[in-house]
Amino acid sequence: MKKADSIHLVLGERLLNSPTNQVVSAFAPSNIALCKYWGKRDAELNLPVTSSLSISLADRGTTTRLSVIDEARDKIDLNGQPVDLQSSFAKRVIDFLNLFRGPSPRYFYVDTHSNIPIAAGLASSASGFASLVLALNALFRWELSNEQLSILARLGSGSACRSLWSGFVEWQQGERSDGMDSVGMPIDTVWDDFCIGLLMLSTHEKPISSREAMQRTVVTSPFYASWPAKVQTDLGLIKQAIAAHDFDQLCKTAESNALAMHATMLTSWPPISYYLPETIKAMQSVWQLRAEGVPVYFTQDAGPNLKLLFVRADQARIQSVFQSLVCVSPF
Ligand code: PMV
Repeated sequence: MKKADSIHLVLGERLLNSPTNQVVSAFAPSNIALCKYWGKRDAELNLPVTSSLSISLADRGTTTRLSVIDEARDKIDLNGQPVDLQSSFAKRVIDFLNLFRGPSPRYFYVDTHSNIPIAAGLASSASGFASLVLALNALFRWELSNEQLSILARLGSGSACRSLWSGFVEWQQGERSDGMDSVGMPIDTVWDDFCIGLLMLSTHEKPISSREAMQRTVVTSPFYASWPAKVQTDLGLIKQAIAAHDFDQLCKTAESNALAMHATMLTSWPPISYYLPETIKAMQSVWQLRAEGVPVYFTQDAGPNLKLLFVRADQARIQSVFQSLVCVSPF
């Protein structure tokens, strides 16, 4: 099954809608997985080996302004700067747009603004593709549901399918080979004092993309075989903890899940490590704070930065240790 078939299944006749002449604008939040997506069962459609669960970062994410232009190629800006169309960033966007051009090719001006660092493991591709799909939906008047948009966003970047909602979102892995049941599902809970702290340790581009790292892990890590069972256990614990507002169970499981994911990477060949010395040092400071009785946990994605999990009452204490911490209230 190809991406174009998947898009046809979602859009049907709407694929032929003409775009409006307007400039449309759409925002999608970044999301941080508490139970990670790591490994694909279908690399073309970004279908995952397991389900995963994330929390969205409220107003931290990507705004995409989109319009049709009378030119023979796309124009892409990122945070006010033109993007080289040969760059890997532009290629991913152009490949994705190619799927929606229709029989008489039309080109787009994609004006992207992100208030999170790009490609530093802060899930910028998730909010980027989700906001692009929302903008396409407005430009072409598709009037799709968030579930349908989630399927389209997944084709750009797997984790993007969780960025269509705020709060906690589960990406249900699905079983179908066409991926029509592999979709984000919001979890209806409000957790007022839940906080996420973004600990920026490096804003450099990551050494290896999550896409490549994931594939290498699946193929070469002797530990990967135990990953699906780990996710199944963690997902159950995390969903229970969300229902019971059990902060320690939720965050303990999230930290353990992230460490297990990185263990599969370290045992890949050639080995993959997103750790910088600063990452390890920050982890040790988190463990030290916990030893002193402060309930704070971390999670880490495909980059060196950490995201800290804590409740608002502990924010000042945690910020006295991590002075550059950017605190986000997801609810
Ligand atoms: O959606 P991708 O291809 O950028 O992969 C995301 C992978 C992780 O961020 C490490 C985990 C996750 O579930 O978001």
